[in-house]
Amino acid sequence: MPGLPPNMPNPEAIFESWWPIIIGIIGGVGYALRQYMRGARCISELKLEDKVAIVTGGGSGIGKQLAIDLAKRGCKVYTTARNQEQAKATEQDIRQSSKSELVHCLVCELDKFSSVKSFVAAFKKKEEQLHYLVHNAGVMMCDFNKTEDGHEEQFQVNYLSPFLMTSLLQDYLKNSTPSRVLLATAPAYKLGSSTFTDCPPEDKYNTGDAYAQSKLALVLFGVTLAEKLKDADVHVHCVLPGVVNTNIYRHLPFRKSAFVAVSFAPFFWFLTKTPDDGAQTTLYALLGVSAGKTTGKIYKECAETEYADIVKDEELQKSLWKQTLEWTKVKEFGQ
Ligand SMILES: *[C@@H]1O[C@H](CO)[C@@H](O)[C@H](O)[C@H]1NC(C)=O
Repeated sequence: MPGLPPNMPNPEAIFESWWPIIIGIIGGVGYALRQYMRGARCISELKLEDKVAIVTGGGSGIGKQLAIDLAKRGCKVYTTARNQEQAKATEQDIRQSSKSELVHCLVCELDKFSSVKSFVAAFKKKEEQLHYLVHNAGVMMCDFNKTEDGHEEQFQVNYLSPFLMTSLLQDYLKNSTPSRVLLATAPAYKLGSSTFTDCPPEDKYNTGDAYAQSKLALVLFGVTLAEKLKDADVHVHCVLPGVVNTNIYRHLPFRKSAFVAVSFAPFFWFLTKTPDDGAQTTLYALLGVSAGKTTGKIYKECAETEYADIVKDEELQKSLWKQTLEWTKVKEFGQ
C-alpha cells in the first residue's frame, strides 16, 4: 500500500481476527450488567428550601449521600454520629460536599434509649419543624450483645430506637405537614417470623434471624404508623435500598478475614450499588409526587412494590405495637 509507513498495522488485517469483536461484546455485556446492578435513579429537580430533615447515620454510605443530596436542594439537614468527634468530621464532610452550611450532625447512639432521647431534645432546641424523618442507620448481623436497656442490639438499633425516636418527634411531624417518615428495610424482612422477642437467650441467638426479625418489626411498624397517621397528612413509607457497597456488611463472614475481603472486593464492587445509587429509592420516596399522595407503601428501585403476606396480618401489627410500647417504655405513642 503506497503511503502507509512500514511499521503500521494494516487496518484491514484487524478485521481478519475475531478478537476485537469478542472483546467488544464482553465489554458491552459487562457494562450493561454493571449498569443493571446500579439500579434505577430518581430524577427530581425539587428544591427543599425551608424544609428540615433528619437522616440517621450520615457518617458514611447511603445516609451520607442522602444528607448531601438533600442539603444541595436547600434542605436543612440533621444527621447523626456515634460520638462528638465523628459528628464534627461528618458535619464538615457533608457541608463541603454539598456546599451548604445548613448541615448539622448530632450525637445519637441507637443502642441507647437515653442517647435517642437526648438527640431529640437537642434537635427540638434548635428547630420548630420536621418535614422528613429518614430512619437510615442500621446494623447487620453483629455478634450477640444485650444493650444497657436490656434488648438484643440489632432489635434495638434497627427497630426499637427508630420507634422511640418517631414517637418523640410525632408532634413535630404533625406540625409540619405534609411530612414524610421513611424506614429503610431489607428483603430479609420476609424471612422474619411472627414470634417477636426483644432479646433471645444468647445460646439461641442467630445473627441472620435476629437481623430479619428487626427488619420485619420495622416494616410492621411502618404499616401501623401509616394507618394511624393517614388523616394527619404524615406519609409513612418503607424503602428497600438494595445491596449497596457500604460498611454495613462488616460483620459478614467474608468481610471478617482481610484476605477474603480483598479477594472478593472486585466482585463485590461489581455486584453492588454505590452509596449514591443506594440513596435513589429513598430519594424517590422522599421527593416523589406519588409517594406524597399515598401512605404505607414499600418502594424498591424507585417504584412501588408488594409487601410479603406476613406484613398484612393486622393482629400481628397490633400485638407488636403493644409490646413495643412496653419495651421502649413509651406510655402513649407521640406523647
Ligand atoms: C453493646 O451495647 C452497648 C449499648 O447498650 C454498647 O455500649 C456496647 O458498645 C455494645 N457492645 C458491643 C460489643 O457492640
